[in-house]
Amino acid sequence: MSVIAVVGAQWGDEGKGRVVDYLADEADLVIRYGGGNNAGHTVVNPHGHFKLHLIPSGIFHPGTRNLLGNGVVINPPALVVELEELAKAGFDGANLFISDRAHLVMPYHVLLDQLEERERGAAKLGTTSRGIGPAYVDKVARRGLRVVDLMEPDLFRERLAATLPRIRRLADGYGDEEMADAVAEATDADAIADAYLAAGTQLARHVIDGQALVDEALERGERILLEGQLGTMRDIDWGIYPYVTSSSPIPGGASIGAGLPAVAIDQVLGVAKAYTTAVGAGPLPTELEDADGETLRERGIEYGTSTGRARRCGWYDAVAVRFSVRLAGYSSIALTKLDVLDGFKRLRIATAYRDPADGREWTTVPASTSVYERLEPVYQDLPGWETDTTACRSWSDLPAAARAYVERLESLAGTLISHVSVGPERAQMIVRESEAHR
Ligand code: IMP
Repeated sequence: MSVIAVVGAQWGDEGKGRVVDYLADEADLVIRYGGGNNAGHTVVNPHGHFKLHLIPSGIFHPGTRNLLGNGVVINPPALVVELEELAKAGFDGANLFISDRAHLVMPYHVLLDQLEERERGAAKLGTTSRGIGPAYVDKVARRGLRVVDLMEPDLFRERLAATLPRIRRLADGYGDEEMADAVAEATDADAIADAYLAAGTQLARHVIDGQALVDEALERGERILLEGQLGTMRDIDWGIYPYVTSSSPIPGGASIGAGLPAVAIDQVLGVAKAYTTAVGAGPLPTELEDADGETLRERGIEYGTSTGRARRCGWYDAVAVRFSVRLAGYSSIALTKLDVLDGFKRLRIATAYRDPADGREWTTVPASTSVYERLEPVYQDLPGWETDTTACRSWSDLPAAARAYVERLESLAGTLISHVSVGPERAQMIVRESEAHR
């Protein structure tokens, strides 16, 4: 293993956190390259059961350094709370580093996220309301505040004061009476500056020039893991626009958001769940609104880590994963939560879509969301295995029908499935190719 990017191949929540936690055993440096505390990674390890939002999953390995890259947007008070939670479990966070170039999520970004969603009404995107979109808007509009600004308090107060009149105009423009108190709170210059600078003081020991850290690690030939957030179907360019996040989860985003040359990435490990889930709105062709969907949700405990929202569940969508394979060029795929399928008599895989309007068959994802919304999955059915796989520790331990299912997904993806997980514990990760990604 040298530089490996771990990337979501579906709608997010594929289990990247547990894959990174597993691989971090051997990593010197783990870097988050995009998104913010909209992310939710559940990690179960001998130290306990953790919900991480910003902090990379390598934090539990004391010998592993963890970097929040420049491509991440950081809410400082939220990060302080996350560090405090870890401290309670005995982790002092000394192995956490924060890029000084990362942008800040401000209280008014959270407010604007909420105001925008309320205005959209029934057409809402279903964001996490964490202010992620508006924070990236300010970054691209060249008026964002960055981590480095927290280190210069006077300048920070000045720049914040300069930006707030525009925010107030914007917020007032929504004319949302119910949000009047929230508007006042999110545009209170002194209160925001006090809270953010206090958080900045607490975080100061973690703040560094991220690129220098990465460069040294590359120079020393260290093993680096790039930890993606969300998945291809929520990518700002390639996802189901506008039901997307505001950054680039695909590996192209990793180079920019971590601060390393694209050619330095040796392998890209895609992570796909053995079925499909999504939180938030937008097309989801294989969604099941029946007892099977409910079974997937309950067996898979499919509730958002950040928001607690029930995830939408459906059969595995091989078209979406193949689309992701083409964009991300996976060296191989880690398939997660195979055990959740244990009880099913019959499993379905969407191998294509059909347009009921003209009968056209689609083998890729259309740009038009309205077209995508009306496409129907074309299913191939496979027999289930109806036995418990959670105690399987090797490929040959798996029932034949489970192996056949994985092999069918593999041939549809056109990529090796190198890892299969049958539960959240580290030991429940079956590595098919012992040399892959080690
Ligand atoms: P945002 O990133 O909060 O702006 O939300 C944009 C879309 O991405 C919405 O559909 C969210 O539900 C979805 N989303 C954001 N973060 C996550 C996550 O960690 N897991 C799954 N979906 C997410």
